[in-house]
Parts: sequence; C-alpha cells; structure tokens
Amino acid sequence: MDEKVKRYTASIPFDYRLALHDIQGSLAHAAMLRHVGVLADADLAAIRRGMAEIRAEIEAGQFAWSLDDEDVHLNIEKALTARIGDAGKRLHTGRSRNDQVATDVRLYLREAIDRLLGLLKSCQTALLDLAETHAETVMPGFTHLQVAQPVTFGHHLLAYVEMLARDGERLADCRRRVNRLPLGAAALAGTSYPIDREFVARELGFEAVCENSLDAVSDRDFAIEFSAAASLIMTHLSRLSEELILWMSPRFGFIDLADRYCTGSSIMPQKKNPDVPELVRGKTGRVYGHLMGLLTLMKGQPLAYNKDNQEDKEPLFDTVDTLADTLAIYAAMIGGIRVKADAMRQAARQGYATATDLADYLVKKGLPFRDAHEAVARAVRAAETQGVDLADLPLAELQAMSPLVGEDVFAVLSLEGSLAARDHVGGTAPAQVRAAIVRARRRLAGQ
Ligand code: ARG
Repeated sequence: MDEKVKRYTASIPFDYRLALHDIQGSLAHAAMLRHVGVLADADLAAIRRGMAEIRAEIEAGQFAWSLDDEDVHLNIEKALTARIGDAGKRLHTGRSRNDQVATDVRLYLREAIDRLLGLLKSCQTALLDLAETHAETVMPGFTHLQVAQPVTFGHHLLAYVEMLARDGERLADCRRRVNRLPLGAAALAGTSYPIDREFVARELGFEAVCENSLDAVSDRDFAIEFSAAASLIMTHLSRLSEELILWMSPRFGFIDLADRYCTGSSIMPQKKNPDVPELVRGKTGRVYGHLMGLLTLMKGQPLAYNKDNQEDKEPLFDTVDTLADTLAIYAAMIGGIRVKADAMRQAARQGYATATDLADYLVKKGLPFRDAHEAVARAVRAAETQGVDLADLPLAELQAMSPLVGEDVFAVLSLEGSLAARDHVGGTAPAQVRAAIVRARRRLAGQ
C-alpha cells in the first residue's frame, strides 16, 4: 500500500481510544465461543491472559500503536497473537471488524452518556443552589430584550434547570437505543457458527441484540441521535452563556463571574472578559457541525457496512469531549457567580415592569381588559414625561387615568407585590420558586 493511502485509510490515530472497549467486547465474544463449544478452554484462558497483559500495557501508556495495522482492532489482535500464538488467531472466529467496531462504539458511547448524565446533574445542582439563594431576588424579566415584567433571579435560573432536565431525559432515552448488541452480525449476513448472541449481550450489559444483521453493522443513527441530544444541551448552555455575557457587561451589571473564568485584554488594562461563556457559545457551533457531519455521512450509504462509517469516530469523540468539558466547567462557574441584586432591582424599576399588574388591578375592579390596557398606557406616558416609575405617580394622577384606582394600588405597583401575585405552579412568586426547587431536587435525587 502506498504510504499516503495507508495514512488516509487508517483509523488508529483516533480509534485507539476504543481500545478498552474493544478488549471488553473481544473477551465477551471469546467467552461465548467457549460456551457454544467453538473455542477450547485452554484457548479462552490464553486469550484472557494475553488481553489482561495488553490492557495493562495500554493503561500504562506503553502499548505501541502501529499505522501498519490500520485500526485498533487489528493492532490489538496482532499484539494478542504475538503473545499467545494460535489462540489469538482463533479469537476472530464468527466475527468481523464490522460488527466489532459497531459494538465498540456503542460500548464507548454508553459509558460516555453515563458520565455526561452525572455532569448534567452537577450543573443542575449548581443552578438549583444559586436559585435557592435568589428565590426572592428581583430582576427584570425580558421579552424582545425589553423589560417586560419582574421575575425573581431564582425563577430565571429554574428555566435552565428545566431545559437541562429534558436534556437528561433525552440522553437517557438515547442510551436505551445505544445499548443494543451488534456483535453476531459478522460482516453483514450473520455467521455459520452456532453463536449465542444473548450470552454476549448479557456479558456486556446490553439490553437487547440488534435484530437485523445488515442494520446492526451499518447504521449509526444512535450516534446521530446522541449528537442531536448533545447539540440541544449546547444550545441551552449557549443561551445561558449569552445571558451571562450580557449580564456581565457594565451596561447591565447584573453579575460578576469569578476571575478564574475570565481573562484580561493585552491592550486594554481595564477589561475583564467573560471568555468561558463566550467559548461555550462558540463551541456550540462545532457540536452542531458534528451533527451535520454525521447526518451527511449516513445519508448516501447503501446497505450494509461501508468504510464511510470509519468517519463517525472523530465527530463523536469530539462531541463527547466538548460536552464533558463544557458541563464540568459550567457547573463550577455557576457556583462562582456573584449576583449584584441592587443593579437587578434598579433595572426592574425602570421600564414600567409592573404595568401589567396595574391593568390586572383595574380588571379586577371591573374594567374590561382592553380598556384597562389603554388606561395604563396613558399612565405610562405620564410617568415617562415626568421621568418616574408608575409607583411614584401621585394617587390623584393615577385616579385621573381611572376612577377605579384606590389606595390599595401601590401594593400592586411594587415589585414584591407583582412577584407575589404570580402564585401558581410555574409562576415567579418566591413561594412557588421555593416549591419548584424542592420538586427539582427530588426529581434529581430520583434519577
Ligand atoms: N476501522 C474500521 C471502522 O472504523 C473498522 C471496520 C473495518 N471494516 C472493514 N471491512 N474495513 O469502521
């Protein structure tokens, strides 16, 4: 083979990362071959011994990967045969690299999902802790990035807890489809040996076997599905990042991120830049890119296995790495957020955030909502002209807008009054925020 072609077709520079799962799969396959009488006891013993040594070498970083042996499967098989002779050559009976690699990738991804689920949980816990501290901290809620109605900072954070909770459900659901055994499909059509696929599935902790051999070796939909779930997690973290970046701008001044998540500028001595959230936003693009890459990789492939599928690994590995790093850093970063509650309150007082409350007040006194809406718009204009908040207008002026207004209007116009009024499941009243935190914690503990 031409040197360039060898490098072009080899996957060892990246699929060496599947090594331990490859060994795990091989040991299960060998045990099954012994179980059905295809492999002798002595051969199985030799394979186990040889693989244990190889595993130790790999774990110690001493295994010499060779480009001449193309991929992780051939590298390990060759090393095994070099150690134990013919028994090593018998391992591949009734198996192909096609069902072998599909099995390895599924084992890898299953483990990755479990790790990611744990990291997702830490992120949710960090958000819940911060939300609990700020169950009563007032901030302006936005629509169109314009001040809309007051919310609590805790309530705002809980929105992200919900997003991440659904993300966790998606990962767990995806895991069920990842967790099926391709081995036994051999190259594409199955094998003439009397194999016991259920035995291998049990050995490897798979919930079921892939039902069709052609499908088992060829489809990578489980990896695509995972990438889609990963993309959504990044979407959510990117949205939160965008908010953190805005909030940290002196124009908002709602929060400060701990110094260890920021950098300075090489030219402007006054700068403190939110690098970590910016990179999360940026890395979201690369995870989306991997999803597109995998979808495109799959779309033109006729059944069954094609070498195209070798290209599934780098995007998948990078998705897992990017997501794991992002989640780990994020959980810690959230714990280090300093909230500037005064600035949040000040911002909520600007922009007539309680205008809806005033309209609702008039409706409760008998005015049809559309009329109330109009009356309050007049009051807002008056307040604007005077450069004050609605709550600062004198009673007489509010009464000029509508005779239905009484002394009790000022309780409604306060930020706390507005928050407390939204007192139902999913609402921003501090009591509801606290109850939601309790439910979310219970949900997390039950997983
Ligand atoms: N390195 C290959 C991959 O990642 C393993 C399967 C190779 N099979 C084959 N028939 N060439 O897909």
